[in-house]
Amino acid sequence: MELISMILFSFCSIVILFLFPCLFKLFDSVRRTLPLPPGSLGWPYIGETFQLYSQNPNVFFASKVKRYGSIFKTHILGCPCVMISSPEAAKFVLVTRAHLFKPTFPASKEKMLGKQAIFFHQGDYHTKLRKLVLRAFMPEAIKNIVPDIESLAKDSIQSWEGRLITTFQEMKTYTFNVALLSIFGKDEVLYREDLKRCYYILEKGYNSMPINLPGTLFNKSMKARKELAQIVAKILSTRRQMKLDHTDLLASFMGDKEGLTDEQIADNIIGVIFAARDTTASVMTWILKYLGENPSVLQAVTEEQEAIIKSNSGDDEKAPSLSWADTKKMPITSRVIQETLRVASILSFTFREAAEDVEYQGYLIPKGWKVLPLFRNIHHSPEIFPDPEKFDPSRFEVAPKPNTFMPFGNGTHSCPGNELAKIEMLILLHHLTTKYRWSMVGSNSGIQYGPFALPQNGLPIRLTKKL
Ligand code: HEM
Ligand SMILES: *[C@@H]1O[C@H](CO)[C@@H](O)[C@H](O)[C@H]1NC(C)=O
Ligand SMILES: *[C@@H]1O[C@H](CO)[C@@H](O)[C@H](O)[C@H]1NC(C)=O
Repeated sequence: MELISMILFSFCSIVILFLFPCLFKLFDSVRRTLPLPPGSLGWPYIGETFQLYSQNPNVFFASKVKRYGSIFKTHILGCPCVMISSPEAAKFVLVTRAHLFKPTFPASKEKMLGKQAIFFHQGDYHTKLRKLVLRAFMPEAIKNIVPDIESLAKDSIQSWEGRLITTFQEMKTYTFNVALLSIFGKDEVLYREDLKRCYYILEKGYNSMPINLPGTLFNKSMKARKELAQIVAKILSTRRQMKLDHTDLLASFMGDKEGLTDEQIADNIIGVIFAARDTTASVMTWILKYLGENPSVLQAVTEEQEAIIKSNSGDDEKAPSLSWADTKKMPITSRVIQETLRVASILSFTFREAAEDVEYQGYLIPKGWKVLPLFRNIHHSPEIFPDPEKFDPSRFEVAPKPNTFMPFGNGTHSCPGNELAKIEMLILLHHLTTKYRWSMVGSNSGIQYGPFALPQNGLPIRLTKKL
């Protein structure tokens, strides 16, 4: 019961905050000739919200897919939606016809992250930002910070030694520090504590009611956001005076040719921290859970990582640093990451909105309707991934077919940080598996959504050094 109410609570708040603004849009789409996709809309406003709330959202989606097929309509809190769960439909919405489906977020989220942040845009401004972000996160750029990521990983793990820790909380600290490193380079050390303090206040307001009165969480968040922007402004002005060469995200944004305003830079930096931290931290948390539950997989990963230490040092006892090339010699560990991304599917779906009436396979998707590609259902389809609930990294020995495995999305808005996310996970796993053991504490069967799927209570574990 507790689990269900937790799911209901967090899912309700997501649905309310995301979908409430589009109440009654259903009624401006009447003059159509093509049929709408199958499915039921239920009563206006209440729609099928009740059904969605009364069960695990993934069960709700799965039962709909079973009944209506891979494209169906539904109606949640007054918002007409088309949900899609086939690789072909996902490709249509995210890749080939991406221009017809614009990103959509509630206004309160835009205010908190900053209206100029990359996620909210289409067209020229989006293309320009994307180029700058990709430049900072492409392999050639990340290569340079491998040693710095490694020292963050070592410091983190050392601080966990012998303690009972909440995996998710600790992973958030690690992924936050890596995000700051990739954004500000080493300049950030000076400002790390201030940035962290402000960001933690900002995120508390993220799932709160968007009421901007003194004393509300939202108001405090907005204040913290202003302070974050001021810190970024301080770093910007220091850099402009020093005129040193940097290769991080901030440098990419500051390029003379780009002509981004300070406000645009601040919005995008806060946005990247938001995109980078909890996502990567929840995947890491799931990895520790799955490795803990699958000793033979953990054994294989450990041997792969020990082999890297051996090949680097021969008989030498002192552990040398990892290189970029080392991270390319971790196929088993990489498959564990892939399989975790598939089974956990922490971003179950994404949101778009039809920018005009669109025809898909003889059906009409009316302008203004939300369109939700259901990544999780694709990742859990038994036709694509046999025995889908089973954790089995060996299934990735064969590359998945196009648009069947999209943990980082696809097309114009796909994740530009995926390479960094993978590297920071590999580096942490290298040190964790070769030097430490962990055991899970308490019951570990529950899932909570906050908003990403997460093992219950953030996975409490106890970590000890190997003898
Ligand atoms: C395992 C961790 C991560 C996962 C699973 C993930 C997943 C995703 C997905 C699915 C999208 C596309 C959303 C959509 O199409 O609506 C996305 C977008 C994005 N991600 Fe990630 N991400 C992760 C880590 C990161 C990291 C580390 C960074 C930054 C360094 C990052 C930065 C971004 C940005 C900026 C976007 C927006 C791109 C755009 O709108 O053009 N992500 N991510
Ligand atoms: C907090 O609320 C007050 C009163 O509505 C408003 O004047 C102030 O601008 C708000 N603070 C922020 C940072 O939005
Ligand atoms: C993204 O879409 C393109 C075009 O359909 C495809 O070639 C590619 O494999 C897709 N990427 C993923 C991760 O599925």
